Amino acid sequence: MRILVACEFSGTVRDAFIKAGHDAISCDLLPTESPGPHIQGDVTEVLLEPWDMVIAHPPCTYLTVSGNRWMKPEYKDRFPDRQQQREDAINFFLACHNANAPLVAVENPIGIISSVFRKPDQIVQPWMFGHPETKATCLWLRGLPKLTPTNVVSLPEEASKRGRLHYLPPSENRWKLRSKTFQGIADAMAEQWGSYVNG
Ligand SMILES: C[S@@+](CC[C@H](N)C(=O)[O-])C[C@H]1O[C@@H](n2cnc3c(N)ncnc32)[C@H](O)[C@@H]1O
Repeated sequence: MRILVACEFSGTVRDAFIKAGHDAISCDLLPTESPGPHIQGDVTEVLLEPWDMVIAHPPCTYLTVSGNRWMKPEYKDRFPDRQQQREDAINFFLACHNANAPLVAVENPIGIISSVFRKPDQIVQPWMFGHPETKATCLWLRGLPKLTPTNVVSLPEEASKRGRLHYLPPSENRWKLRSKTFQGIADAMAEQWGSYVNG
């Protein structure tokens, strides 16, 4: 199995597949944080190469519903490129979904993709995979089955329900820490989608 993990700097999903015995490589504009097979650069051309499976985590910055307000006429002077940035982000999401592979999963938070493309096939939460935190993660699937929860855990008290990531103090690395795939979800992808293909 030749697997591309697109838009991943952390190596989390890539390494889960490698651990499960697959041939996986990550690609991101950033260097990988965890030593392993990685292409540092634009993934657009890489998506056109033949792969057995592509799992993609495209940026969501311009795909949020709350971002709609920045496109109102009164913000035109402050954010003149906003509309174009959103169109580019939608096209990049679709390029990931149309990757040259029979099996594709594209991950993103809840946002405008549900209305401009289609609703996700599944919404997973970290608490379904062993992490006592909430962070709705949508999966748009092509040729892959939905993930089955591996370890449903209960959430802590209301105050900290949103999880430690939500309360991280401002820092340069905050977005990185918040955007890393949860290990339990990465392991479930490798176990379930890896064996789905092998079987
Ligand atoms: C939301 S983060 C995903 C992080 C991922 N979940 C992880 O654990 O590393 C989106 C990533 O997409 C990368 N990215 C954005 N545009 C890209 C492009 N054209 N080619 C490759 N990577 C890109 C960014 O550098 C960023 O690391």
